Amino acid sequence: MPKKSIRDIDLKGKSVLVRVDYNVPLDAEGNVSDATRIRETIPTLDYLRAQGCRTILVSHLGRPDGKPDPKQSLAPVARELQRLRFPVIFATDTIGPDAQSKAASLRAGDLLLLENVRFYPGEEANDPSFAAELAKLGEVFVNDAFGTAHRAHASTAGVAAFLPAVAGLLMEKEIDALGRVLDNPKRPLVAVIGGAKVSSKIGVLENLLPRVDRLIIGGGMACTFLKAKGLEIGKSLLEADCLSVATDLMAKAGPKLLLPIDGLCVYQVDPASQPMVQDSDHIGADVAMVDIGPRSIDLFGEAVRGVGTVVWNGPMGIFEMEPFAHGTAAIADAIAASGATTVVGGGDTIAAIEKLSDASRFTHVSTGGGASLEFLEGRVLPGVAALQDR
Ligand code: 3PG
Repeated sequence: MPKKSIRDIDLKGKSVLVRVDYNVPLDAEGNVSDATRIRETIPTLDYLRAQGCRTILVSHLGRPDGKPDPKQSLAPVARELQRLRFPVIFATDTIGPDAQSKAASLRAGDLLLLENVRFYPGEEANDPSFAAELAKLGEVFVNDAFGTAHRAHASTAGVAAFLPAVAGLLMEKEIDALGRVLDNPKRPLVAVIGGAKVSSKIGVLENLLPRVDRLIIGGGMACTFLKAKGLEIGKSLLEADCLSVATDLMAKAGPKLLLPIDGLCVYQVDPASQPMVQDSDHIGADVAMVDIGPRSIDLFGEAVRGVGTVVWNGPMGIFEMEPFAHGTAAIADAIAASGATTVVGGGDTIAAIEKLSDASRFTHVSTGGGASLEFLEGRVLPGVAALQDR
């Protein structure tokens, strides 16, 4: 971990502004329906409480576009924190009089949650005067919002110009787990990349390819690779403008690359359609591949068994439709049972694990969607870059 964390500086009795990513889903009643991102910050909250800190939490929820929107209030998150037995004070603004007076009257160990920071246009604009107002609320800035670390916003990056800035324990855990995949993996290292579109995965494929011992490509994006190999893919998803990049990646990958050797195919992409298994070199002209087939499941499963590290990003098929979720579920199972260090990132993949598997079976499931993808692309995340070097 190249950056300082809360364990590296003296925080005793300090007032600490903590950026968290409490951008969590809410149900129809407005209650938090998945508290994973909140639960994952508990080690940081516990640590700060044990140090007698006054903790001021700042987060966004949704994309309110710089204006207050009661539907995107963080009040339900305050209720969820209470439910998790963290007594919390809630401020109805972020830098206004309520936040200021509540922050000023905190006592050692107290926790204050500010209202949605994206209710202010200065947040996403990374306006220095807005960042300076935020900074006035604390003596130290802690960034524990890995999920938002790819955004250069006032509360993720700008505020670090005004306060000493260090990582929280979740941020540290994420950077350690994902960083080890790129820099010091236990070998062999296998990447399993899926999802619908090659275009959204080019960066990650290019960055991982020289590092991995094996690259497995599944999901809709595999069809563009099959087409680039000269195979017919019928009505399957094709990104014609990615054919040359696919050809180039295949040439660089050589025997490292595994593509599906069969697929589940349908005449209509509809859960009611009757799926047929077709070999990848015999896909009918009037069908679309919607999942990997049983021989691919065996091939991919065998390729991850007993390896050192598996990094997984992207589902193997249209897992949102139950009849086409089997490939993703089977690969999740094979990765979890592989005996390897297993690191999972990406919004769709996390959703797939929630639906089809159990996050506790993996070594690390990232709280970041876009952030974990950008990290694996090797990009500098502004929220990380802003932290003090160790
Ligand atoms: C996420 O859910 O990926 C993060 O909270 C970032 O949200 P954003 O894409 O609205 O910036």
